Amino acid sequence: MDVTVEPPLGMLAELTHRCPLHCPYCSNPVELAAKRDELTTEQWLAVIEAARDLGVLQVHLSGGEPLLRPDLPELVSRASDLGCYVNLVTSGLGLTKPRLTDLAERGLAHVQLSVQGADAARADLIAGAKAHARKIDAAAVVHEVGLPLSVNVVLHRANHDQVGALIALAEQLGADRLELANTQYYGWALRNRTALMPTPGQLAAAEPIVRAAVERLRGRMEIVYVVADYYEKYPKPCMYGWGARQLTVAPNGDVLPCPAASVITTLPVENVRSRPLAEIWYESESFNAFRGEDWMRDPCRTCDFRARDFGGCRCQAFMLTGDASATDPVCSRSPDRSVVDGILAAEDAAVRSGGVPEFVMRTPTVVR
Ligand code: SF4
Ligand code: FES
Repeated sequence: MDVTVEPPLGMLAELTHRCPLHCPYCSNPVELAAKRDELTTEQWLAVIEAARDLGVLQVHLSGGEPLLRPDLPELVSRASDLGCYVNLVTSGLGLTKPRLTDLAERGLAHVQLSVQGADAARADLIAGAKAHARKIDAAAVVHEVGLPLSVNVVLHRANHDQVGALIALAEQLGADRLELANTQYYGWALRNRTALMPTPGQLAAAEPIVRAAVERLRGRMEIVYVVADYYEKYPKPCMYGWGARQLTVAPNGDVLPCPAASVITTLPVENVRSRPLAEIWYESESFNAFRGEDWMRDPCRTCDFRARDFGGCRCQAFMLTGDASATDPVCSRSPDRSVVDGILAAEDAAVRSGGVPEFVMRTPTVVR
């Protein structure tokens, strides 16, 4: 391999797959890790230390819902004491002022709050729980405690018409950053693709609203809009390259080059219980599989854009073609682009015929 491997910048620590919400766009795997298989407190503390030794500077504590882990304060303390920037990725359910004050005193630096819709009726329908009002309260708590707040919204057909109202809501909540991310079809979301895919009309309507808000709110609230990549001509630079900047540790200790990588069934899965984190990052087959450019075939191998998008998303390539080293079929230069066009045509036919299915709520299917 002719690639110089840099240390990772960030670690996504998925503390648990347990979650009080049932969002149909959930990108966690269809089969979730059971509570009994979750890493213990001691194991997570060791993972955080190993990650810091490896060079990690940003630790994103996520899930599922990380607040369901009673040892969250200890994990925040350890990561912060080691000099990491610690971010909590949460549904907001269970985020009380005493809990957040304690986490902030232990060094928590940032809160990322998910929101499902612009009003309680729509948001609770998508979340599958009475959650919206509690999220509004959680945002107020973040403000009172004085931490920076990001609001994250996953966009899809059932909330795309609310883009303007969602921006207004994020302003009201005093968010420093708003991420409006069109659904990426991994994990549970893939089975709801037909129900969730926004229409071209919805995407066209949202675009000027977002553009105007970006200008109006510049310097006050950063807005990041993640496009619906099936409709794009070129793929996203997924993970800024495979095994390049970040690693994910799943609740059971599996170490993945990206949060969705368990879909690539042809890759061996590494685990912190059986191999040191540094060895996994630098030497494992799974992390080295798509580093650099040696793995690329035509058209990526000779394409001018390969240093910009790294050939797109490996998980998407695998899910849509069965080959993780294929060009991402979203790319208009991919020999498999017809797969994506076929999906879009089928979506369009479903919309025209009124045959769009209801989305299926996330259920806690666990690995037996
Ligand atoms: Fe990117 Fe490969 Fe498409 Fe070129 S051919 S734009 S490198 S995905
Ligand atoms: Fe896994 Fe894109 S989500 S590489």
